[in-house]
Amino acid sequence: MEPSDSLQKRFYIVRSALSSDLEAILKIYNQGIEDRIATLETETKNMDYMRSWIEDHQDRYQVLVAENEGRLVGWASLNRYSQRRAYDGVADLSIYILREYRGKGVGGHLLSALEQAAKENQFYKIILFTFPNNIAGQKLYRRHGYREVGIFEKQGVLDGNMVDVMIMEKMLKKQT
Ligand SMILES: CC(C)(COP(=O)(O)OP(=O)(O)OC[C@H]1O[C@@H](n2cnc3c(N)ncnc32)[C@H](O)[C@@H]1OP(=O)(O)O)[C@@H](O)C(=O)NCCC(=O)NCCS
Repeated sequence: MEPSDSLQKRFYIVRSALSSDLEAILKIYNQGIEDRIATLETETKNMDYMRSWIEDHQDRYQVLVAENEGRLVGWASLNRYSQRRAYDGVADLSIYILREYRGKGVGGHLLSALEQAAKENQFYKIILFTFPNNIAGQKLYRRHGYREVGIFEKQGVLDGNMVDVMIMEKMLKKQT
């Protein structure tokens, strides 16, 4: 069944990802890559890549998924920001929603749950990198209290074009 406006009233379950979710996570990630709105990655990924990716997302670096009536419709992850010990309390964030479920509030549910998971895993700050033209992403992040740190000009190349990348951050706990 195709989603409709009534979908907005439906209930989303947010839970930790299982290895059996990897194919659905891959599909959603590849949609984000194809849409050229979320990442500088241009080549779609495969299951080998995802198996290695989930290995890097154990313990504190959690992956959460959102389900609607048993269908996996989005995921979000806490990623390692840096190998340096000094940055152990900082996590980088990824979030991807299935195309036909975007703009229906799924991202907000996932982001709230991911922030809670970050706090429980001793992260005091989340940072993220986004494109300045990713309006849906920025609305979501700003609504959740992320502030724009700045914009790297011509930070990467996407399909042969130089693109700017915006950094945003949110403090989860006060640091002294
Ligand atoms: C960005 C993304 C994670 C946001 O999640 P979502 O579930 O779609 O978010 P929401 O439904 O809460 O919508 C966020 C806001 O953007 C608005 N919005 C959604 N789609 C939009 C669009 N195409 N253009 C403009 N605004 C849009 C919503 O109305 C909402 O506005 P509000 O905060 O004023 O209510 C999701 O759209 C997505 O997966 N996009 C592709 C992958 C991606 O860009 N990931 C982020 C990489 S940084």
